Parts: sequence; structure tokens; C-alpha cells
Amino acid sequence: MATNLTSDQPAVDLSDGGRLPMLGLGVWQIPDGRECADAVRWALELGYRHIDTAQAYGNESSVGEGLRAGGVSRDEIYLTTKFYPGEKDPVAELEASLRRLGVDAVDLYIIHWPQGGPTWAWPGMERARELELTRSIGVSNFSAAELDQLAEVATVMPAVNQIQFNPFRNRAGLVEACQRLGIVPEAYSPLGTGQHLADPTVRAVAERVGRTPAQVLLRWCIQLGLPVIPKSTHRERIEENGRIFDFELSPQDMEQLAALDETGGTDLAREEIWW
Ligand code: A2P
Repeated sequence: MATNLTSDQPAVDLSDGGRLPMLGLGVWQIPDGRECADAVRWALELGYRHIDTAQAYGNESSVGEGLRAGGVSRDEIYLTTKFYPGEKDPVAELEASLRRLGVDAVDLYIIHWPQGGPTWAWPGMERARELELTRSIGVSNFSAAELDQLAEVATVMPAVNQIQFNPFRNRAGLVEACQRLGIVPEAYSPLGTGQHLADPTVRAVAERVGRTPAQVLLRWCIQLGLPVIPKSTHRERIEENGRIFDFELSPQDMEQLAALDETGGTDLAREEIWW
């Protein structure tokens, strides 16, 4: 195995007793087909034990194919999918996801974004959990105010809020709001969809610690306690992104990266919403 990811994957405890691995493969923007199945298989071969997909990505069938080809038993893999909130029924949509993925249940089922408001879909999410179609339930792209609204009506609190987070999107206010409510913030687009890899500060830190810009960006999130789900369709990059548990950024490195923030430490999930 080329990465140092072993059976004792670093993971974070969730409020409902689940454990979310700190590193996962994200498959946003990988079309359904061979490329997606290969990425999932390679990730498993390289020691990843966490895969993050969504109904809106349209690639759950290929994720399922990759899971089967990876040769790792289902109970060792942490699998996330997301409810597409353009639909009405989280349970029916999850049942369809499970058929596409070829599994009996997922580990985490997330409302992909708060379209139509932050609370209407939650009873359906709780029902999916009661039916044991998912181990945990959570949200994505929820602001601090939306989390507060949800907390008022939830029987089971969301375990996770998956948010756009990296040094340039250093949503300190939102991370704090999540932690206050016992919700684990999870970082998507940790590499800024690749755009932050060439940044001079990121490169300077990378040079100083003898690592790659991608490893530095991922490690920054990890040290702040946020699990990361970098996307790549290249085996060597998937491998590179997995080698983040054998070095540390100094407090100075952490601060220098944090200072790249362009959000003013916001508690909003997005600068612009797309729904
Ligand atoms: P590719 O899939 O062609 O490898 P994010 O996770 O923030 O969305 O970033 C994903 C983007 O970053 C993708 O375009 C991906 O390209 C690229 N990427 C992922 N890992 C690396 C890496 N280690 N080095 C360079 N580019 C990477």
C-alpha cells in the first residue's frame, strides 16, 4: 500500500456514535462511467475507506461498480450520499440510491442544500434513519442560522454539515456554529476545485514542509478537525492526497494559511446560493 492509510483510519466521532474517516474520495464532477468506477477502486486499493457521492452527481451506479471492484468488505467502507432537494421524499430517493449503489444502507445521508428551507426534508431524513437505510443523517451547505432553525424542530440532530471549506473559504463562524451544536463540519472543495494549488503562499508552505500544495491544503483542514473529501480521477494524485497523516503544519504555517481567508470568517455556507 502506497499511502499510510491502514485499518485504523483517523476518524472523528459523530454525535450519534458514528465515526467519520478524516479522509475520503469525493466524486463530484466525475461523470458516470469507467473514470468514476476506476477512481473509487483505486482509492480503495490505496487504503481509502470513505467515499462521498450524491444523487445530484448522477454517478452512484459507477460508485457501486468501483466499490465492488475494490475488493474491500462493505463494513470497512464509509459511504455517503446526498438527498437531491429538488425531489420530495428523502426515503424514496435513498431507496433508489441504494439500488444504484448496490448496498443495503449508506453510512451517512445528507440534505445536499437547503432548497425550499432548512427544515421540510428533515422528518424524511429521520425516517430514513429509523428504517436503517442510513447509519447517520446530516446536511450540507447550511448556514449557522439554518442550523439553528433545524435544531428547533429536529428529533435527531444532524451529525454533519458538509461545507465549502479551505484557507480561502475559512468559514470560521460557521465551523464554530457547527461545533456549538455538536455537528461535525466536513470540508468539500478542500483544494478549491484545484484552483488554490498554485497559490504562492500555499506553495511556499509546501516547499518549507517538503510536501505538495495539495497535501498542505488537506492537512490544514485535518489539523482544524475537519474531514476532507478531495476529488481526483488520477491514481497518483489519489495516492498523493492520501499521504497526509505523517507530517504536521506548525502553528505559524496554520496561521499563514488561515490568513488567506476571503470570507471574513463568515457563518454563511455560501457567498452566492445556486438554488
Ligand atoms: P483531477 O481530478 O484531474 O486529478 P477539490 O477536491 O477541491 O474539488 O479539487 C479537485 C480538483 O483538484 C480536480 O480538478 C483534481 O483534478 C485536482 N486535484 C486533486 N488532487 C490533486 C493533486 N494532488 N494535485 C493536483 N491536482 C489535484
